[in-house]
Amino acid sequence: MTSTKSKNFALACIVLTAVLSQPGCKPTDLSKENLIPKPVSVTATGSSFDLTDQTDIYVQGESEELLRIGQYLADKLNPSTELGLEVKTTTEAPATGNIFLSLAANDAELGNEGYELTITDKSVNLVANKPAGLFYGVQTIRQILPAKVEMTTKQKGPWKLATGTIRDTPAYGYRGSMLDVARHFFGVDDVKNFIDQLAYYKMNVLHLHLSDDQGWRIEIKSWPNLTAHGGKTEVGGGEGGFYTQEQYTELVKYAQDRFVTIIPEIDMPGHTNAALASYPELNCDGKATELYTGIEVGFSTLCTNKEVTYQFIDDVIRELAALTPGEYLHIGGDESHATKIEDYIPFMNRVQDMVIAHGKKVLAWDEIALATLKPNTVVQYWAKAENAIKGVAQGAKVLMAPAKSAYLDMQYDSTSTYGLHWAAYIEVDKGYNWDPANLVPEIKKENIIGIEAPLWSETVGARQEAEYLIFPRLLGYAEIGWTPSELRNWDEYKVRLASHGERMRMMNINFYPSKLVPWDGQTKK
Ligand code: ACM
Repeated sequence: MTSTKSKNFALACIVLTAVLSQPGCKPTDLSKENLIPKPVSVTATGSSFDLTDQTDIYVQGESEELLRIGQYLADKLNPSTELGLEVKTTTEAPATGNIFLSLAANDAELGNEGYELTITDKSVNLVANKPAGLFYGVQTIRQILPAKVEMTTKQKGPWKLATGTIRDTPAYGYRGSMLDVARHFFGVDDVKNFIDQLAYYKMNVLHLHLSDDQGWRIEIKSWPNLTAHGGKTEVGGGEGGFYTQEQYTELVKYAQDRFVTIIPEIDMPGHTNAALASYPELNCDGKATELYTGIEVGFSTLCTNKEVTYQFIDDVIRELAALTPGEYLHIGGDESHATKIEDYIPFMNRVQDMVIAHGKKVLAWDEIALATLKPNTVVQYWAKAENAIKGVAQGAKVLMAPAKSAYLDMQYDSTSTYGLHWAAYIEVDKGYNWDPANLVPEIKKENIIGIEAPLWSETVGARQEAEYLIFPRLLGYAEIGWTPSELRNWDEYKVRLASHGERMRMMNINFYPSKLVPWDGQTKK
């Protein structure tokens, strides 16, 4: 409800802004901030905290990790505000006027990723049980500040935070996106940029699809021709590329610092032409295939009854596991139309054991449920509900990535420049308006580890092209993963999303300006 007082305040602001160019005059109602994902609980107290050149960021104790999170916040705020926020350690709450990050929550309800942010006119106090919670609280602080805080050049203040308390914790532990770097290769800087974007919306997994018919993108030292030859091209005949193990390690670390886990995927036994072109012995006829730059699927298979195939896979999994601090390795398993089902099943069973032997858990596309699932194997539902249901019947958990609702490469509508539409057209409302726990009656919330929105890259090879498909839909998937479904509603969400148009512009994100979203004037043009 808008009181007469706040209406008068708003009117005064408009007049002052027009007449005196009074900057940053805005009502201070924390409950009206356009946060994405929407927090679980917001209590507004109607005042504001001013960031000034006296403000610093204090972290509790000497923890390297907390100092890093504090520095991350300072690095995000200092370029635009030029307030020179410094990061300092302390054992007790700092003097008024400062931001304080501590692990003092001791609050089971907040779990491993939740946080409580209390803003008064005197201080900003962020507490959590674990560093991840502080990191997500930091993203909330960024979103409470004016959009221009995201600029990397000096902007005019004032820098006010509306007062109140936010208590927030995610609905699902797995909130991810996938980038297909095989159909088109995306370099280290593009992937880092995407990790930053995921983190801003509190997502915590980046699944990298590292191999497919068109390219092999991760250096495997024991099988060097995979990248020397198999990494040389991409869809359309471009030059492709690959990550050295050193570059990949740099990406993993960059992601870890932002509480994002990278899950590497080596797709098999199908989607393997790049490997088959690089090593003749992996083919049943012993002849290397040609490199492939088209977009057909389902024509390639590793030779499942040759022992060298398993030596190859074991080497790849060993090297990849050593590069992977996360608990999962993704082994694909989708669209193996060139593999007989009687070969597919023992193959997937054996490869699961190899992943486990190297200390990791298996993630695979839903077809894997046709095989015997090993303990802890997770089924990624993308196409067939019956496969996912088979997985649940075997006691497995499901990762929800239904192509018809969550594939970022699906076109928005028939006029979309990029993307495909074999599963569906997914307008921004359709991408938002579904509930993972309600999509397939047999798959309940307790069976689901979370949600993933994959971007297949057959039609996009540059950052701006990928962003056009990813944004603004990614924000909706972030909210589905974080916010309880009973707090989500398209008509309310689209207004919050509209305000993120300005933020996305400030962050140089090339997003699709859907007509269904009431963007401000600048975005519509
Ligand atoms: C897939 O889209 N082939 C998993």
